[in-house]
Amino acid sequence: MSANHAAVVDEIFETLAELAPEIRASLPGRRVKSGETNPSGETRLEADAYADELIEAAFGEIDGVGTYASEEQAEPIDVGEGPVSIACDPLDGSSNIKPNSPMGTIVAVYEGELPAGGDRLLASGFVLFGPILTMTVARDGQVYEANVGDGDIEIIDDDVTIPDEPTVYGMGGRVPDWTDGFAGFIEEVEQEYKLRYGGAMVADVNQVLTYGGIFSYPALQSAPDGKLRLQFEGIPIAYIVESAGGESSDGTGSLLDVEPTEFHQRVPVHLGNAELIDRVETHLADA
Ligand code: F6P
Ligand code: MN
Repeated sequence: MSANHAAVVDEIFETLAELAPEIRASLPGRRVKSGETNPSGETRLEADAYADELIEAAFGEIDGVGTYASEEQAEPIDVGEGPVSIACDPLDGSSNIKPNSPMGTIVAVYEGELPAGGDRLLASGFVLFGPILTMTVARDGQVYEANVGDGDIEIIDDDVTIPDEPTVYGMGGRVPDWTDGFAGFIEEVEQEYKLRYGGAMVADVNQVLTYGGIFSYPALQSAPDGKLRLQFEGIPIAYIVESAGGESSDGTGSLLDVEPTEFHQRVPVHLGNAELIDRVETHLADA
């Protein structure tokens, strides 16, 4: 990464750390539906809209950021001159606000125009609104986790690495809607590991980073491209998991090699220990 890009990336994650307590503080008052849907047809909560506006305004102020794109908006927005584009999922897993379960914010920093593939990703990170307010960032092939409860980056772990011995698995989609290949894979892993699924990608992936295992939102019979969005969720979280020593897959290969054709395109997602990703790919190929 050039020194110029590195300085912009620094400022983006310092800004995200500052925003995190502010977004969290806004959540209790914004637990209700806004009456709108986002470009992927999902119900938009007031919390989604508020976080998106806050993040867009703050990132738009950063020198070097030319474009802000959000899962909540149909098209990328021109926010100034600069070589860097941000793709953001302002509140990942926002349906968890009702039961007061964890959610997150995902930020991907790409070089140049969007849509962009993993080859143009400069860095990515997520905030996890859990019992502790943390931010996990991957850049230059290394991952750190920081406490951002006070708006500053206080490093907890400067080299997050997925444990060698997996223990958990979690996956989305109704079981009867799974493909035969994926169902066959789960029949195998459920004998070996413990099911843990929370319904917010960032939290489900963070437990995989913590305990080892696999998170999937697979291709479904009714939705061959799955649910998660490549630009905002698939690529940034794949880069974090791969930088922590794990692997990612869309069912056939790394999510970082999938070329985006559409801005809000969906993609099947598998993330976790290399051995489990290889196994899911084998099951899907053999089915
Ligand atoms: O952003 C989409 C999302 O909320 C992810 O965070 C999560 O993994 C998934 O949807 C949950 O979907 P479901 O409600 O189908 O389990
Ligand atoms: Mn999301």
